[in-house]
Amino acid sequence: MSVHSLTTRMTTTRLRQMKQEGEKITMVTSYDYTLASLADAAGVDTLLVGDSASNIVCGNQTTLPISMDEMIFLTKGVVRAAQHALVITDMPFGSYQISTEEAVRNAIRILKESGADAVKLEGGEEILPAIRQMIQSGVPVCGHLGLTPQSVNQFGGYGLRAKEEKEAEKLLHDARLLDEAGCFLIVLEKIPARLAAEVSKAVSCPTIGIGAGPYCDGQVLVLHDMLGMNQGFKPKFLRRFAELGQEVVTAVGDYVSAVRTGTFPSLDESY
Ligand code: KIV
Repeated sequence: MSVHSLTTRMTTTRLRQMKQEGEKITMVTSYDYTLASLADAAGVDTLLVGDSASNIVCGNQTTLPISMDEMIFLTKGVVRAAQHALVITDMPFGSYQISTEEAVRNAIRILKESGADAVKLEGGEEILPAIRQMIQSGVPVCGHLGLTPQSVNQFGGYGLRAKEEKEAEKLLHDARLLDEAGCFLIVLEKIPARLAAEVSKAVSCPTIGIGAGPYCDGQVLVLHDMLGMNQGFKPKFLRRFAELGQEVVTAVGDYVSAVRTGTFPSLDESY
């Protein structure tokens, strides 16, 4: 980690420069002040207030139910925590698909009310007019291609995307369009590593992979997954960098038994 990275606020132009200089970009999801402060202190470049909050924070099966108000509420805490990292907020399902006008109004609302630096949207050519208009209005946009979880009902599951030639060609085409429109980043989720490499070479903006292999310009993981807090979730692409889930269960269990046996609080822990 360079000194520069801890003392200056991350910007969209610096992220582009990192790609040009071959410096890998890091991103983790964040949904609250406390974990976002820790991730920021660790030196992560970008914090994504993902709509995966619908699963991780709210316990829903999919990302579809989370609302604009809920995303804005969660983002405010992350923004207060971010001393260094650039904060990107997911636009929730239904907030940008209906019309360009509504999409731009919602993107501007997210920036104004939450303090986020940028928004992320899922999709390619179909939502290009909205993306163009947002960028022209001064809203930095991060694209998201491949496995786009808001389309889970169309895909019929969370499997690998763009295995077939036709879908891979569309993805490459969409990536070029997003890049030309001025997206400052593109997330590539669960696609073959070779395709992610081709896309990363074809576009000028950085690509951020999740389950997309090592050739992207950066990587993103859901923080709760990489910390081992989501114990049943073990896809091939996920590396757990800690086992906090087990630590929490052990610590809370120790607390429960200390209270029940009368060993907590002690007189030293009393006034
Ligand atoms: O919502 C989310 O967490 C995401 C990441 C998986 C990229 O979109």
